[in-house]
Amino acid sequence: MFAKLMNHTLKMISLWFSICMAFHSGHGEVTLEQPIYTNTIQRFENPGDQNSTQENEVKALKKVFLSNRSITCNDGSQAGFYLRRSHSSTKWIIFLEGGWYCYDVHSCRNRWLKQRHFMTSSKWPETKDVGGMLSPNIKENPFWWNTNHVFVPYCTSDSWSGTKPPSPNDMFSFMGSFIVRQVIRDLIPLGLENSTDLILAGSSAGGTGVMLNLDYVKELLHEELMLTQINVRGVTDSGWFLDRTPYAPTNKPAVEAIRKGMDMWRGKVPRRCREEYMSEPWRCYFGYRLYPTLKSELFVFQWLFDEAQMDVDNVGAPVTKQQWDYIHKMGDALRQSFENVSAIFAPSCISHSVLTKRDWQSVKIDDISVAEALHCWEQKTSRRRLKRLKNGKVLNNTGARLGKRKRRRNQRKTLGYANLLNNDDRANVQDASVKMKRRRRNRINRKIQRNKIRSRKHPQNSENKPSLTSNNPTLDKRISRSVLQKNRWPRKRHCIHRRLERCSWPQCNHSCPRLHNPFTGEEMDFIELLKSFGLDMNSVADALGIDIQTLNNMDHAELLNLLTQQSN
Ligand SMILES: *[C@@H]1O[C@H](CO)[C@@H](O)[C@H](O)[C@H]1NC(C)=O
Ligand SMILES: *[C@@H]1O[C@H](CO)[C@@H](O)[C@H](O)[C@H]1NC(C)=O
Ligand SMILES: *[C@@H]1O[C@H](CO)[C@@H](O)[C@H](O)[C@H]1NC(C)=O
Ligand SMILES: *[C@@H]1O[C@H](CO)[C@@H](O)[C@H](O)[C@H]1NC(C)=O
Ligand SMILES: *[C@@H]1O[C@H](CO)[C@@H](O)[C@H](O)[C@H]1NC(C)=O
Ligand SMILES: *[C@@H]1O[C@H](CO)[C@@H](O)[C@H](O)[C@H]1NC(C)=O
Repeated sequence: MFAKLMNHTLKMISLWFSICMAFHSGHGEVTLEQPIYTNTIQRFENPGDQNSTQENEVKALKKVFLSNRSITCNDGSQAGFYLRRSHSSTKWIIFLEGGWYCYDVHSCRNRWLKQRHFMTSSKWPETKDVGGMLSPNIKENPFWWNTNHVFVPYCTSDSWSGTKPPSPNDMFSFMGSFIVRQVIRDLIPLGLENSTDLILAGSSAGGTGVMLNLDYVKELLHEELMLTQINVRGVTDSGWFLDRTPYAPTNKPAVEAIRKGMDMWRGKVPRRCREEYMSEPWRCYFGYRLYPTLKSELFVFQWLFDEAQMDVDNVGAPVTKQQWDYIHKMGDALRQSFENVSAIFAPSCISHSVLTKRDWQSVKIDDISVAEALHCWEQKTSRRRLKRLKNGKVLNNTGARLGKRKRRRNQRKTLGYANLLNNDDRANVQDASVKMKRRRRNRINRKIQRNKIRSRKHPQNSENKPSLTSNNPTLDKRISRSVLQKNRWPRKRHCIHRRLERCSWPQCNHSCPRLHNPFTGEEMDFIELLKSFGLDMNSVADALGIDIQTLNNMDHAELLNLLTQQSN
């Protein structure tokens, strides 16, 4: 969504960094996962083999308008969502679309002229096909392909926070916050009532929307609708921004825009944050201020060099040393803002959003993809919740077993073991607990074996990576596969929730989305991209303090290395 938006901003930056993610076929990668997630893969093998035309018809997300007709898009058209039910799963993912915002009469008129699809439902198709975490394809989406999927189109331009109904004096209404609540209410009779897990996810403005609405959604389900068995969690993608001083004066500084916008939208922010920032409630649109006040569990994904952040910072193409430095500091500031975030995945790349991209599994830090990290986090928080529910009313008929579960859990904890067991059928607690008992014994045995093997094979464990700069993706893939197979078991152990790329320069590691030359569509690396746009390599050489000859002859890896060190 944002890519489309960027085209309209006509900013230098979007010209220079117009980046797409390459569509890797992904076949190899999924085969890779099989040894680890055998349970998932085997259980769901059959549906994948079905007749593909049939499959597509069955599997499209279908349009549903909200039951409350007075909750609308900007232009007064009826709001709604797209739904794909999965009767074999009790998990739901509700995804909030992104696409910037507008914040005053002028910017909203502009948006109406140029990006009307973000303000009305009048042209919504009957069905939709969304990739990544909302894909029904097991290869593209190994962990959530079979869950209930809900895609909520963004048509309120308010970062999903507005509570302003239509009025004769205003051109537009802003009802994003109402839409989220109504979507939940309308999903109850469609099956959400009996669910065990709800993930509220979103990208870009939708990612910010997740943070703004998460606690309210939880409250609505648990306190108002008394559906306390539903575990409510959030995943925010590329919606965590910083209210820093822009690099150059700009006609739309983020802080100013949000402040105006909040007024115009009658923006609603989480209660505890509003209390914290009484006089400046608009601060609550910024993740690092909002996060500490949130009660619900949140997983944060953010590119360290987010295109939208660079855009609002108005930094432009990094030609001068000042610009290089500013971009660097941006990455550092972002990294710092994650200091107290318990679940974070932040690759060092220039890009924007990830969750619904078809090749999202190729985004990795230390060979763990964002999908795997999310899956792992989901499992962990599920277990924590089970513990909390132990004394509760919901699982009352399994109470006897929960005592045992707790003991087992504690045993696992002392082993430091990270459970990656597929959890789709968690409703069926009894069944699972019998299986888990059996698995536990096997696991402990395997772990002992593993530790023996590892201490022999990998004295320091890791750093056996393929070269950063190999221009041969097939080779890279092959190497990394063999590495992965060797590391099959250690990977499980690496189920940690904070993953921040260590290197500090954009694109400094090989798993970044490929950069594309916007004119030819060819893949290229960062330096080539800069050159192709006529980046003055003399300035770069100056900034780095070396002569142009040396620069031109420099190996890319070396050059990146040098750029990386510039910040320190
Ligand atoms: C898929 O379904 C169509 C119609 O139901 C049928 O004609 C076709 O042979 C099927 N293809 C495969 C590969 O099963
Ligand atoms: C519809 O939504 C509006 C705005 O939230 C609310 O005031 C109204 O009571 C709702 N109507 C129904 C029937 O729920
Ligand atoms: C939820 O489960 C109950 C009991 O199985 C069933 O009667 C009810 O229809 C279900 N609700 C939905 C919306 O499927
Ligand atoms: C993290 O928490 C500590 C202690 O509460 C606080 O001093 C620090 O400012 C926090 N960091 C961020 C980035 O919020
Ligand atoms: C790139 O990532 C690998 C592991 O994924 C890491 O070992 C290496 O240090 C990273 N490179 C830099 C320059 O940080
Ligand atoms: C919990 O217990 C109550 C009363 O004993 C019963 O009505 C209810 O069905 C039980 N809930 C579940 C989920 O079994």
